[in-house]
Amino acid sequence: MFKRSSGKKNLVGLDIGSSSVKAVELGRKGANLQLLNLGFENLQTDTIVDGQIMELNNVSNVIAHIFSEHQIRTNRVAAGVSGHSVIVKNIVLPQMSTEELQESFSWHAEEHIPFDIADVNLDYELTGKSSETLHVLMAACKSDKIANVKQAIQLAGKQPVIIDVDAFALQNCYEMNYQPKAGEVVALLNIGAATMNINILNGSRSVFARDASVGGSQYTSLLQKELGLSFEQAESIKRGMPLPEGVEPRPIQPIIETVSETLALEMKKTVDFYRATVQDGEGSIQKILIAGGGSKLPGLAEFLGNRFEIPVEVFDPFRQIEVDGRKFDPDYMREIVPEMAVAVGLALRGVEA
Ligand SMILES: Nc1ncnc2c1ncn2[C@@H]1O[C@H](COP(=O)(O)OP(=O)(O)OP(=O)(O)O)[C@@H](O)[C@H]1O
Ligand SMILES: [Mg+2]
Repeated sequence: MFKRSSGKKNLVGLDIGSSSVKAVELGRKGANLQLLNLGFENLQTDTIVDGQIMELNNVSNVIAHIFSEHQIRTNRVAAGVSGHSVIVKNIVLPQMSTEELQESFSWHAEEHIPFDIADVNLDYELTGKSSETLHVLMAACKSDKIANVKQAIQLAGKQPVIIDVDAFALQNCYEMNYQPKAGEVVALLNIGAATMNINILNGSRSVFARDASVGGSQYTSLLQKELGLSFEQAESIKRGMPLPEGVEPRPIQPIIETVSETLALEMKKTVDFYRATVQDGEGSIQKILIAGGGSKLPGLAEFLGNRFEIPVEVFDPFRQIEVDGRKFDPDYMREIVPEMAVAVGLALRGVEA
């Protein structure tokens, strides 16, 4: 799950989200990165339920369609995993050699993983050391979750060469685009349909990351329930469209805010965890960067800014990437930029120096 042996060349970042599939391919042009291909297609509701791909054929058809429609010839894919099958944690271990760490890691990791260790794929990265301790970032994902994602990709005739963690892909994307310095503490928030990935970074070091089971689909289902609407109607109202004719007029803002409160509460929990785990001298969060389709909810950035009293900005995954306006319609790009953060982060695995 951590960076190694991608074989570097030619890789498509494929973000299989619960509401849509996004694909990004990047290339190098001299010292710069450029966007080569981009695809984005919605999935029908209930295709992915509770993080599990229920309709493998639907997902693989969508993947295959994205590749054919955009004439993406690269078959190698980097995909991501997120949600409650994924555990990411910074752990402190006694000082030991690299070989000893490799041999004993799963034994040390066991107490941090709420699943049977035999059922998870485990990876780690050494993030720091002192004379007596090692700081290790652990990533674990249930093996059946990984198998499920790989299967959908293989069914589409593509080759899954890297399975990353969405929160790390987001981080990768942030590092490349923002070049943060140590001491700059930022919370990255990727608000999807079902999951919100939160990664709190100090410079380019992840201090605390977790996924919360909240996202855009919660707004939609509450609006559906409260106003008796269809999924499509609720989706368009959420995006700021007027209520359809025949629906009894009612203020929708309080309904929306109920869900935003849940979201803010999960964020607060994470900030509290962060505060409890950081070492002395580690600073408070200076900025929140929001990504994901859910971040486009009108007024959400302001809501979070007021709640946490820190600036909230929209994350730009293409900040340092050349995007040719003749090939990619600028209006369309502006519209879908928030959704592409994880896919760009995954695609970066193919162009890393
Ligand atoms: N303009 C908008 N206003 C409000 N919500 C929006 C807007 N555009 C998209 N969304 C919401 O964003 C969500 C989809 O975001 P995204 O594509 O990041 O999720 P996903 O990757 O499919 O899901 P997940 O990662 O949670 O499995 C949906 O709930 C959708 O309704
Ligand atoms: Mg997502």
